[in-house]
Amino acid sequence: ELYNFRQIGADTKVHGVIGNPIGHSKSPHLYNGAFKSVNFNGIYLPLLVDSVARFISTFSSPDFVGYSYTIPHKEDGLKCCDEVDPIAQAIGAISCMIRRPDGKLMGYNVDYLGAIAAIEEALRVREGINGEASPLAGKLFVVIGAGGAGKALAYGSYEKGARVVVANRTYDKAKELASKVGGKAITLEELENFHPEDGMILANTTSVGMKPNIDRTPLTKKALSHYSLVFDAIYTPKLTRLLKEAQECGATPVYGTEMFINQAFVQFERFTGMPAPKQLIRDTLAKNT
Ligand code: ATR
Repeated sequence: ELYNFRQIGADTKVHGVIGNPIGHSKSPHLYNGAFKSVNFNGIYLPLLVDSVARFISTFSSPDFVGYSYTIPHKEDGLKCCDEVDPIAQAIGAISCMIRRPDGKLMGYNVDYLGAIAAIEEALRVREGINGEASPLAGKLFVVIGAGGAGKALAYGSYEKGARVVVANRTYDKAKELASKVGGKAITLEELENFHPEDGMILANTTSVGMKPNIDRTPLTKKALSHYSLVFDAIYTPKLTRLLKEAQECGATPVYGTEMFINQAFVQFERFTGMPAPKQLIRDTLAKNT
C-alpha cells in the first residue's frame, strides 16, 4: 500500500512534491516506502499546485515539514522561501524546501548534488580511489548547456574544485555562466576541436539526443576520445547516443537516472535526518518505471 495509514497521527510529519502535472511522479512511492522501511513517522503526498505562493500561504500548515519541487515550480518555489542556500540562489531554482522548527522555510537545490555525487562515485570506481577528497578537484569539467541544469553542474563542479568550461549554443549565456565560476566559455563549434588535455569530464545538460530524437548527439564520436567520463542529464532513453559512443571510446558513462536516484538519497536524508535506504530506493524506482 502507498500510505501507512495505521501510523498517521498528530506527530506524523507531512511531506509532498509540488508540481503540475504531478500524476506521473514516482516520488510518493519512493518516499513512503523509504519512510516505512526506517520506521520514520512521515507521509509524502503528490501535490498538484497551480500557484506556489498561494499554496504556501493558504494550505501549508506547520505539519508540512518538507516539500520537493518539480516542473514547472522550481523557480517560483525559490521566491517563497525565507532563506535560500547560496548555490540554489545562484542557480535560480530550488528542488527541496524544509520547514525549520522555528517555522522558517529553507530552500535548497539538491538536483546538482545528485548529479555531482553520481559523477564522483563513478570517478572513484574508475580511478580506484577512496577517501574524502573529491576526485573532481583539478579536473577539466566541460558543461554543455547554460540553462537550469547547466548552471547546476557548473556551480556544483566548481564547488568541488574542478576547472569549468561552458559550451553553449547561445555563446552569451555560456560567457555569463563561465564568468560566475571562473571558467572559460566556448561555442558548440569550438567544442568539437576542444582538447587542451586528455581525461576531461563532459556533462550534457541540453535536450539534444532526447526521445524522440535519439539519433542526435551534442558532440561527435571523434571528439569524445579526450574524455574519461561522460554524464548525460537525459534519461529517456537511458542510453543516449552520446553515452553509447562515449563508452565505445573508453569513457565511463554516467546515466541521467543516476542524478535522480542520488538526489533522492540526499533529499531523504534532509527530510528524516537518517541515512537513506539506498537499495530500497533503487528497487522502488526500478519497479515503478
Ligand atoms: P534545463 O532547465 O533543463 O537546463 P533550459 O533552462 O531550457 O533547460 O536550458 C536548455 C539548454 O539546452 C540551453 O543551454 C539551450 O541552449 P540555448 O541557451 O542556446 O537556448 C540548450 N539547448 C536546447 N536545445 C538545443 C539544441 N537543439 N541544440 C543545442 N543546444 C540546445
